[in-house]
Amino acid sequence: MRRIETIVVLTGAGVSAESGLATFRGPDGLWEGHRVEEVCTPQALARDPALVHAFYDARRARLAEVEPNAAHKALARLDAAWPGELLIVTQNVDDLHERAGAKRLLHMHGELKSALCAGCEARMPWDRPMSPNSVRFERSRETTSPSARFSTSLEANGDFTAPECPRCGAAKLRPDIVFFGEMPYQMDRIDAALSRADLFVSIGTSGAVYPAAGFVQTARHCGAWALELNLEPSAGSYLFSESRMGPAGEQVPAWVDEVLKR
Ligand code: APR
Repeated sequence: MRRIETIVVLTGAGVSAESGLATFRGPDGLWEGHRVEEVCTPQALARDPALVHAFYDARRARLAEVEPNAAHKALARLDAAWPGELLIVTQNVDDLHERAGAKRLLHMHGELKSALCAGCEARMPWDRPMSPNSVRFERSRETTSPSARFSTSLEANGDFTAPECPRCGAAKLRPDIVFFGEMPYQMDRIDAALSRADLFVSIGTSGAVYPAAGFVQTARHCGAWALELNLEPSAGSYLFSESRMGPAGEQVPAWVDEVLKR
């Protein structure tokens, strides 16, 4: 069996599903009820900042209600124990990997608990709402489904002024989220790790969004074995050397045990 030195793990919304955070696509997904272009593009932020800020404020507030699950914990265990190179690349903007203890972690799509200045590009920790009182966010309480509980009714009215950047003084802070049409963070570092990877593992992602959806091809071109752990076959399942289906909370701890025993 091939010697494994460098492991690159890619995670998506499916890894946090068992913590109660909605995935994006699928019947109960976060985008149900919201068009992506209404909340997750630079154009949307320019057109209706109050709406976009309220959407991300609601998601940030939700983090206080959820905990890392067995999959996050298993990846943190791998991080602590793996003697070789490891990079966990997450597309998730939640903080569950780091709360579980993962250190060799990179948030390629940004973080809810960070703010970005659209003026000077400073990034800073941020854990409070950004939207003014004129924006109303309502939770529907009639349902028990986690994502439905998170379903939002956003009502933007009045003028919106973004919070001021403590570094440059301009009122231009925005959620530190990589919107559609923007470049993900640290692509150089990710590409370099993929090119060295002996094992690439994709967990809980639909493979619908590039560039992350293309990591499997890059890794395999460079000689890695590619393993997919997902609830169901994804759009790109055929690209992997091996696919295992099942909930991340079961599949990930089993895989981590396996790799640490090698
Ligand atoms: N365990 C494992 N996989 C799961 C689980 C679970 N418990 N629950 C759901 N999944 C799988 C789904 O089957 C699906 O294939 O997780 C995947 C989630 O896919 P998406 O909702 O598309 O999320 P993701 O792939 O992370 O989306 C990528 O799209 O909108 C953007 O920026 C956003 O980072 C996000 C990107």
